[in-house]
Amino acid sequence: MPSIAESSLVSLDFWARPQGERDEVFASLRAAEGPVFCPLPDGQGFYAITRYEEVAEASRNPQVFSSQPTAVSLVDPPPQVVRYSGSMISIDDPRHARLRRIVSRSFTPRLVQRVTGDVAVLARRIVDELTERGQCDFVEHVAMPMPLQIICSMMGIPESAYDDVIDATNLIIALGDPDYEGPEGKDRAAILAEKFSLLHALMADLGRLRREKPADDLVTALTHANVDGEALDDLDLGRFFALLVVAGNETTRNALSHSLTLLTDNPGQRDILLADLDVRLPAAVEEIVRYATPVTWMRRTLTRDHELGGHVYRAGDRVILYYNSANRDDGVFKDPYAFDVLRSPNPHFGFGAPGPHFCLGAHLARREITVLLRELYTRLPTLHATAPPVRQRTSFINGIKSVPCAF
Ligand code: HEM
Repeated sequence: MPSIAESSLVSLDFWARPQGERDEVFASLRAAEGPVFCPLPDGQGFYAITRYEEVAEASRNPQVFSSQPTAVSLVDPPPQVVRYSGSMISIDDPRHARLRRIVSRSFTPRLVQRVTGDVAVLARRIVDELTERGQCDFVEHVAMPMPLQIICSMMGIPESAYDDVIDATNLIIALGDPDYEGPEGKDRAAILAEKFSLLHALMADLGRLRREKPADDLVTALTHANVDGEALDDLDLGRFFALLVVAGNETTRNALSHSLTLLTDNPGQRDILLADLDVRLPAAVEEIVRYATPVTWMRRTLTRDHELGGHVYRAGDRVILYYNSANRDDGVFKDPYAFDVLRSPNPHFGFGAPGPHFCLGAHLARREITVLLRELYTRLPTLHATAPPVRQRTSFINGIKSVPCAF
């Protein structure tokens, strides 16, 4: 088994290294004979699954590769965090499928079409404000407002709560990044529990309102839902709410931020895109999501002994599915390190691999990115980053905290 990345994959310093260096480590892991085992401070550890076919196989086989007890944490979270965070992303079928059905109606292409008007209006407003402001931070003024305002309006969250929502989702995703931590010395689990409980309290307020006065939003669907003959209780509602606002915000924002740096660093690709923006945008958006891979990994836990890629995993083993690595697998992608806005086919795993947990918000995310990029580059074709991005320090999300732009 290779030893190259045993500790580096769990160290935040590794994830702060330049993309090229991280790519080299993953290329060596894909080429190695067996999976690398990365020990963790909790005395356990995980196997890194880095090849495309193995990520696909594990995702297709949820009976063996379970999302329980968690899909989103390397270590098993403490009970006070699970209490608030245990949403459907970390639950297996059949309960996962029942929960997913409650909200899936709101995310079909046809229903996403319904928010397209809002997305277009918002994109116009964001670009109007950017035009007036001039040079500024692209994350704060362009990439963040789009997904934040769309998911909040789908949920019926009042504008006065937007700052609290973004503060909570940032911290939940990037805990460990010093910029997002609370007062020094405060226990991380306590900070997490505090932010989750803030989202739960917001959901409880909105839920009360929607029970009395239903509206055409997701909170109404959640509060009136019936799963296994029961209504969702306050805890379930809060977990759903936290999942949707975190997943809705923290991913699309980073895809948008990466689009600016990718199109700045690859002027030839940018010219190709701008030469026929309407026609080329859909493929370019897929390539941005492949190249950036905003969600780096998801975890699975083995329910029984099982062989995958020549290695026999044991019941209870944890495996991490590295989408960033699958998306650079040269057995599937020709010239995988090239950013190619015309790439076709592009069967990337940016939204996860096919399986029951495939990203619920993929259509929505594609719509938000496409509409905003169209508005930006039609009106401000010289838009570019003026300095390299400041990246988040987390292994889970390929996040950008800030990147200055000008036009
Ligand atoms: C570029 C943007 C996005 C990326 C890269 C992304 C990525 C992902 C990935 C990789 C998963 C797979 C989880 C797994 O297999 O365990 C996932 C699941 C999920 N995503 Fe997204 N996502 C994006 C946008 C969104 C948006 C806008 C929403 C809207 C709320 C959303 C909601 C969800 C939900 C609810 C799940 C869990 C689905 C389930 O467990 O059945 N995502 N996403």
